[in-house]
Amino acid sequence: MKLDEAQLQQFDDDGFIFVPDLFTAEEVAVLKGEIPGIFAQRRPEVIREKTGDVVRTAFATHTYNDVYRRFISHPRILEPAQQLLGGEVYIHQFKLNGKAAFDGDVWQWHQDYGVWQRDDDMPEPRAMNLAVFLDPVTEFNGPLYIVPKSHKAGVLEAGHDVETTSYPLWTLDQQTVANLVEKGGIAAPKGPPGSGFFFHGTLVHGSPPNMSPWNRLIVYVTYNRTDNAIRRFQRPEYIAHRDFTPLSVLPNDCLLT
Ligand code: SIN
Ligand code: MN
Repeated sequence: MKLDEAQLQQFDDDGFIFVPDLFTAEEVAVLKGEIPGIFAQRRPEVIREKTGDVVRTAFATHTYNDVYRRFISHPRILEPAQQLLGGEVYIHQFKLNGKAAFDGDVWQWHQDYGVWQRDDDMPEPRAMNLAVFLDPVTEFNGPLYIVPKSHKAGVLEAGHDVETTSYPLWTLDQQTVANLVEKGGIAAPKGPPGSGFFFHGTLVHGSPPNMSPWNRLIVYVTYNRTDNAIRRFQRPEYIAHRDFTPLSVLPNDCLLT
């Protein structure tokens, strides 16, 4: 699937594109059907919240689950990523973020590229995220908050937060966020399962805790250009991948066959 000129322009101007109906109900059912088996596993890739025995993030599922191995090369997400980044791409990171009912914890304000640069020595912000909602995302269940246009601010000063949640993150200070929000406001992409959301590596984002009785499962794929591969291997391989092989696009029905 190719993005049109207006979508490319929006990514450039605002730092994100929201695509309703990116995946069908049938495809979402295939993706969700794998989740109980994945979330039941006790393995280092599957990180639980500080409170509650629920999954915060399951990393690198595409390396051991065949449905998600096909998903990352689906033409409706891989082709736009190649287009937006202007070249061949590999997977830098893959995660299923559970944001479980009642226990799903906060993600503090941050830029993903701020983490990839500081922790993984990724040379340039030529990497981006694709998010696909696997549950309905509403105002109640901890939607992603983004600051439109903040990707244009470049890499911002950040502090290493190893306390707040079960996963360390380079987070932004309140004044920096307030200044950016004054210019760009805050948006919270919401929609039914199957909705897709592409966003720039330097877009400022975070999400509030989920105090609702509804789960908010989102799958995130981070694509990076093969000529922008990371140079520091301090984080586990399942968090920052070292396989820089370019991905090839699979057929449109690859989740259903
Ligand atoms: C992230 O920023 O990496 C995750 C945020 C979320 O899933 O709410
Ligand atoms: Mn993030």
